[in-house]
Amino acid sequence: MNGLQQKGGVVDMRGISKDEMEKGKVLYSDKDHKFIWLGWSYKKSGEFQANQFLIVDGDEGVLLDPGGVHVFPHVITTVSRYIPLDKIKYLFYSHQDPDVSSGIGLFMNVCPNVKILISRLWLRFVPHFGFTDVNRIETIPDKGMDFNLSRTTLKIIPAHFLHSEGNFSLYDPRAKILFSGDIGASVMPDEDLYFEVENFEKHTRYMEWFHRRYMKGNDVLRKWVSIVRRFEINIIAPQHGAIMSGENVKKFLNWLENLRCGGDIIDEIYGT
Ligand SMILES: [Fe+2]
Ligand SMILES: [Fe+2]
Repeated sequence: MNGLQQKGGVVDMRGISKDEMEKGKVLYSDKDHKFIWLGWSYKKSGEFQANQFLIVDGDEGVLLDPGGVHVFPHVITTVSRYIPLDKIKYLFYSHQDPDVSSGIGLFMNVCPNVKILISRLWLRFVPHFGFTDVNRIETIPDKGMDFNLSRTTLKIIPAHFLHSEGNFSLYDPRAKILFSGDIGASVMPDEDLYFEVENFEKHTRYMEWFHRRYMKGNDVLRKWVSIVRRFEINIIAPQHGAIMSGENVKKFLNWLENLRCGGDIIDEIYGT
Protein backbone atom coordinates (compact mmCIF):
# COMPACT_ATOMS: atom_id res chain seq x y z
CA MET A 1 0.00 0.00 0.00
CA ASN A 2 1.18 3.45 -0.93
CA GLY A 3 3.21 5.01 1.88
CA LEU A 4 2.51 2.25 4.36
CA GLN A 5 4.99 -0.13 2.77
CA GLN A 6 7.83 2.31 3.05
CA LYS A 7 8.99 1.29 6.49
CA GLY A 8 7.61 -0.75 9.33
CA GLY A 9 4.91 -2.68 7.43
CA VAL A 10 1.16 -2.12 7.21
CA VAL A 11 -0.48 0.19 9.69
CA ASP A 12 -4.10 -0.31 10.76
CA MET A 13 -6.20 2.76 11.23
CA ARG A 14 -9.61 2.39 12.86
CA GLY A 15 -12.61 3.91 11.12
CA ILE A 16 -11.28 3.69 7.60
CA SER A 17 -10.72 0.98 4.99
CA LYS A 18 -7.35 0.21 3.41
CA ASP A 19 -8.82 1.28 0.07
CA GLU A 20 -9.80 4.68 1.51
CA MET A 21 -6.36 5.10 3.08
CA GLU A 22 -4.87 4.79 -0.37
CA LYS A 23 -7.51 6.48 -2.53
CA GLY A 24 -8.99 9.04 -0.15
CA LYS A 25 -12.33 9.41 1.62
CA VAL A 26 -15.20 11.73 0.75
CA LEU A 27 -16.27 13.52 3.95
CA TYR A 28 -19.14 15.42 2.32
CA SER A 29 -20.86 15.03 -1.02
CA ASP A 30 -23.84 16.50 -2.84
CA LYS A 31 -24.53 16.70 -6.54
CA ASP A 32 -21.89 19.31 -7.27
CA HIS A 33 -19.76 19.68 -4.16
CA LYS A 34 -17.32 17.36 -2.40
CA PHE A 35 -14.91 17.66 0.54
CA ILE A 36 -12.29 14.91 0.34
CA TRP A 37 -9.51 13.62 2.62
CA LEU A 38 -6.67 12.60 0.33
CA GLY A 39 -5.56 9.40 2.01
CA TRP A 40 -2.61 8.33 4.07
CA SER A 41 0.69 9.62 2.75
CA TYR A 42 2.69 9.10 5.94
CA LYS A 43 6.13 7.66 5.19
CA LYS A 44 7.25 6.79 8.74
CA SER A 45 10.56 8.46 8.00
CA GLY A 46 10.55 10.57 11.14
CA GLU A 47 8.24 13.23 9.73
CA PHE A 48 5.10 14.64 11.32
CA GLN A 49 2.14 12.85 9.64
CA ALA A 50 0.11 15.34 7.60
CA ASN A 51 -3.39 15.32 6.09
CA GLN A 52 -4.21 16.90 2.75
CA PHE A 53 -7.73 17.81 1.62
CA LEU A 54 -9.44 18.66 -1.67
CA ILE A 55 -12.69 20.57 -2.21
CA VAL A 56 -14.37 19.99 -5.58
CA ASP A 57 -17.12 22.47 -6.42
CA GLY A 58 -18.76 22.14 -9.83
CA ASP A 59 -15.84 21.72 -12.20
CA GLU A 60 -13.30 23.57 -10.01
CA GLY A 61 -11.15 22.54 -7.09
CA VAL A 62 -9.03 23.88 -4.25
CA LEU A 63 -6.30 21.91 -2.48
CA LEU A 64 -5.84 22.59 1.26
CA ASP A 65 -2.28 22.44 2.64
CA PRO A 66 -1.12 20.16 -0.21
CA GLY A 67 2.14 19.35 1.55
CA GLY A 68 5.82 18.81 1.04
CA VAL A 69 7.99 17.20 -1.59
CA HIS A 70 7.83 13.63 -0.32
CA VAL A 71 4.00 13.41 -0.24
CA PHE A 72 3.64 15.01 -3.68
CA PRO A 73 3.37 11.75 -5.75
CA HIS A 74 0.67 10.33 -3.46
CA VAL A 75 -1.30 13.58 -3.24
CA ILE A 76 -1.28 14.31 -6.95
CA THR A 77 -2.26 10.73 -7.84
CA THR A 78 -5.19 10.87 -5.43
CA VAL A 79 -6.33 14.33 -6.59
CA SER A 80 -6.37 13.05 -10.17
CA ARG A 81 -9.01 10.48 -9.21
CA TYR A 82 -11.44 13.29 -8.41
CA ILE A 83 -10.65 16.21 -10.75
CA PRO A 84 -8.35 17.01 -13.73
CA LEU A 85 -5.28 18.89 -12.55
CA ASP A 86 -5.97 21.84 -14.86
CA LYS A 87 -9.24 22.40 -12.99
CA ILE A 88 -7.51 23.07 -9.68
CA LYS A 89 -8.07 26.80 -9.20
CA TYR A 90 -6.26 27.43 -5.90
CA LEU A 91 -3.73 25.97 -3.52
CA PHE A 92 -4.66 27.21 -0.06
CA TYR A 93 -1.76 27.42 2.40
CA SER A 94 -2.73 27.86 6.06
CA HIS A 95 0.84 29.05 6.75
CA GLN A 96 4.44 28.68 5.59
CA ASP A 97 5.72 25.52 7.30
CA PRO A 98 7.55 22.90 5.20
CA ASP A 99 4.95 20.18 5.89
CA VAL A 100 2.38 22.54 4.37
CA SER A 101 4.18 24.21 1.51
CA SER A 102 7.61 22.86 0.58
CA GLY A 103 6.14 21.05 -2.46
CA ILE A 104 4.87 24.34 -3.87
CA GLY A 105 7.04 24.33 -7.02
CA LEU A 106 6.01 20.77 -7.93
CA PHE A 107 2.29 21.51 -7.52
CA MET A 108 2.54 24.74 -9.53
CA ASN A 109 4.21 22.82 -12.37
CA VAL A 110 1.52 20.17 -12.74
CA CYS A 111 -1.51 22.42 -12.06
CA PRO A 112 -1.18 24.96 -14.90
CA ASN A 113 -4.14 27.19 -13.94
CA VAL A 114 -3.66 27.25 -10.20
CA LYS A 115 -3.01 30.27 -7.99
CA ILE A 116 -1.57 30.24 -4.48
CA LEU A 117 -3.51 31.67 -1.54
CA ILE A 118 -1.20 32.46 1.37
CA SER A 119 -0.80 35.15 4.04
CA ARG A 120 0.73 38.41 2.83
CA LEU A 121 3.36 37.85 5.53
CA TRP A 122 4.79 34.88 3.59
CA LEU A 123 4.80 36.30 0.03
CA ARG A 124 8.52 37.07 0.07
CA PHE A 125 9.41 33.70 1.59
CA VAL A 126 7.68 31.52 -1.02
CA PRO A 127 10.49 31.96 -3.61
CA HIS A 128 12.82 30.21 -1.14
CA PHE A 129 10.89 27.01 -1.83
CA GLY A 130 11.99 27.33 -5.47
CA PHE A 131 8.86 28.90 -6.93
CA THR A 132 9.53 32.44 -8.13
CA ASP A 133 6.48 33.56 -10.16
CA VAL A 134 4.85 35.84 -7.57
CA ASN A 135 2.19 36.80 -10.16
CA ARG A 136 0.57 33.45 -9.40
CA ILE A 137 0.31 34.25 -5.69
CA GLU A 138 -2.75 35.95 -4.18
CA THR A 139 -2.02 37.19 -0.69
CA ILE A 140 -4.59 36.86 2.08
CA PRO A 141 -5.12 40.00 4.20
CA ASP A 142 -4.82 39.67 7.97
CA LYS A 143 -8.60 39.82 8.47
CA GLY A 144 -9.15 36.85 6.09
CA MET A 145 -11.26 36.86 2.92
CA ASP A 146 -13.90 35.01 0.93
CA PHE A 147 -13.21 33.43 -2.43
CA ASN A 148 -15.40 31.76 -5.03
CA LEU A 149 -15.37 28.42 -6.71
CA SER A 150 -18.02 27.62 -9.37
CA ARG A 151 -20.97 27.37 -7.01
CA THR A 152 -19.77 28.04 -3.47
CA THR A 153 -18.08 30.88 -1.62
CA LEU A 154 -15.45 29.63 0.82
CA LYS A 155 -14.35 31.62 3.87
CA ILE A 156 -10.75 32.11 4.97
CA ILE A 157 -10.74 32.80 8.71
CA PRO A 158 -7.84 34.42 10.61
CA ALA A 159 -5.97 32.09 12.98
CA HIS A 160 -2.85 34.18 13.58
CA PHE A 161 -0.17 32.92 15.98
CA LEU A 162 -1.81 29.46 15.94
CA HIS A 163 0.92 28.72 15.42
CA SER A 164 2.31 30.94 12.66
CA GLU A 165 2.21 34.76 12.63
CA GLY A 166 0.31 34.73 9.33
CA ASN A 167 -2.06 31.81 9.75
CA PHE A 168 -5.56 30.95 8.52
CA SER A 169 -8.32 28.34 8.73
CA LEU A 170 -10.79 27.66 5.93
CA TYR A 171 -14.54 27.17 6.38
CA ASP A 172 -16.63 25.39 3.77
CA PRO A 173 -20.24 26.52 4.45
CA ARG A 174 -21.76 23.96 2.13
CA ALA A 175 -20.02 20.94 3.69
CA LYS A 176 -20.04 22.63 7.13
CA ILE A 177 -16.43 21.52 7.52
CA LEU A 178 -13.73 23.67 9.10
CA PHE A 179 -10.20 22.98 7.89
CA SER A 180 -8.25 24.10 10.95
CA GLY A 181 -4.62 23.67 9.83
CA ASP A 182 -2.37 22.93 12.81
CA ILE A 183 -5.15 23.75 15.30
CA GLY A 184 -6.50 20.39 16.48
CA ALA A 185 -3.39 18.53 15.35
CA SER A 186 -2.81 15.19 17.04
CA VAL A 187 0.07 12.73 17.06
CA MET A 188 -1.19 9.19 17.57
CA PRO A 189 1.08 6.18 18.09
CA ASP A 190 0.99 3.43 15.46
CA GLU A 191 -0.72 1.04 17.88
CA ASP A 192 -3.60 3.48 18.46
CA LEU A 193 -4.32 5.10 15.09
CA TYR A 194 -7.83 6.19 14.21
CA PHE A 195 -9.34 8.34 11.48
CA GLU A 196 -11.92 10.09 13.64
CA VAL A 197 -11.85 10.94 17.34
CA GLU A 198 -13.88 8.39 19.30
CA ASN A 199 -13.21 9.33 22.91
CA PHE A 200 -12.37 13.04 23.16
CA GLU A 201 -11.18 12.93 26.77
CA LYS A 202 -8.65 10.25 25.87
CA HIS A 203 -7.71 11.97 22.61
CA THR A 204 -6.46 15.11 24.39
CA ARG A 205 -3.30 13.17 25.36
CA TYR A 206 -2.36 13.12 21.66
CA MET A 207 -3.01 16.87 21.18
CA GLU A 208 -1.76 18.39 24.39
CA TRP A 209 2.01 18.57 23.94
CA PHE A 210 1.78 20.01 20.42
CA HIS A 211 -0.68 22.74 21.39
CA ARG A 212 1.10 23.69 24.60
CA ARG A 213 4.46 24.09 22.84
CA TYR A 214 3.53 25.39 19.37
CA MET A 215 0.58 27.70 20.07
CA LYS A 216 1.28 31.28 21.16
CA GLY A 217 -1.01 31.59 24.15
CA ASN A 218 -4.49 31.26 25.59
CA ASP A 219 -5.44 34.80 24.49
CA VAL A 220 -5.16 33.98 20.79
CA LEU A 221 -6.80 30.57 21.24
CA ARG A 222 -9.81 32.32 22.77
CA LYS A 223 -9.93 34.83 19.93
CA TRP A 224 -10.04 32.06 17.34
CA VAL A 225 -12.63 30.04 19.26
CA SER A 226 -14.87 33.11 19.53
CA ILE A 227 -14.76 33.51 15.73
CA VAL A 228 -15.33 29.89 14.69
CA ARG A 229 -18.22 29.44 17.13
CA ARG A 230 -20.23 31.73 14.82
CA PHE A 231 -20.23 29.01 12.17
CA GLU A 232 -22.22 25.80 12.01
CA ILE A 233 -19.52 23.12 12.05
CA ASN A 234 -20.18 19.41 11.52
CA ILE A 235 -16.51 18.42 11.18
CA ILE A 236 -13.17 19.93 12.19
CA ALA A 237 -10.47 18.61 9.85
CA PRO A 238 -6.92 19.38 11.06
CA GLN A 239 -3.69 19.12 9.06
CA HIS A 240 -2.38 16.37 11.36
CA GLY A 241 -4.10 13.37 12.94
CA ALA A 242 -7.76 12.57 13.53
CA ILE A 243 -10.81 14.56 12.45
CA MET A 244 -13.50 15.58 14.97
CA SER A 245 -17.26 15.64 14.41
CA GLY A 246 -20.56 16.24 16.22
CA GLU A 247 -20.25 16.71 19.98
CA ASN A 248 -16.47 16.44 19.74
CA VAL A 249 -16.40 19.77 17.86
CA LYS A 250 -17.91 21.49 20.89
CA LYS A 251 -15.70 19.57 23.30
CA PHE A 252 -12.62 20.55 21.33
CA LEU A 253 -13.49 24.26 21.30
CA ASN A 254 -14.11 24.15 25.07
CA TRP A 255 -10.81 22.35 25.63
CA LEU A 256 -8.93 24.85 23.50
CA GLU A 257 -10.53 27.82 25.22
CA ASN A 258 -9.14 26.66 28.55
CA LEU A 259 -5.69 25.54 27.45
CA ARG A 260 -2.60 27.31 28.79
CA CYS A 261 0.17 27.30 26.22
CA GLY A 262 3.13 29.17 24.74
CA GLY A 263 3.70 32.42 26.60
CA ASP A 264 1.37 31.28 29.41
CA ILE A 265 3.87 28.57 30.38
CA ILE A 266 7.07 30.32 29.38
CA ASP A 267 8.97 29.40 32.58
CA GLU A 268 8.13 25.74 32.04
CA ILE A 269 9.35 25.93 28.42
CA TYR A 270 12.59 27.66 29.41
CA GLY A 271 13.04 25.27 32.31
CA THR A 272 13.59 28.14 34.73
FE1 LIG B 1 2.89 24.43 11.27
FE1 LIG C 1 1.52 21.33 10.33
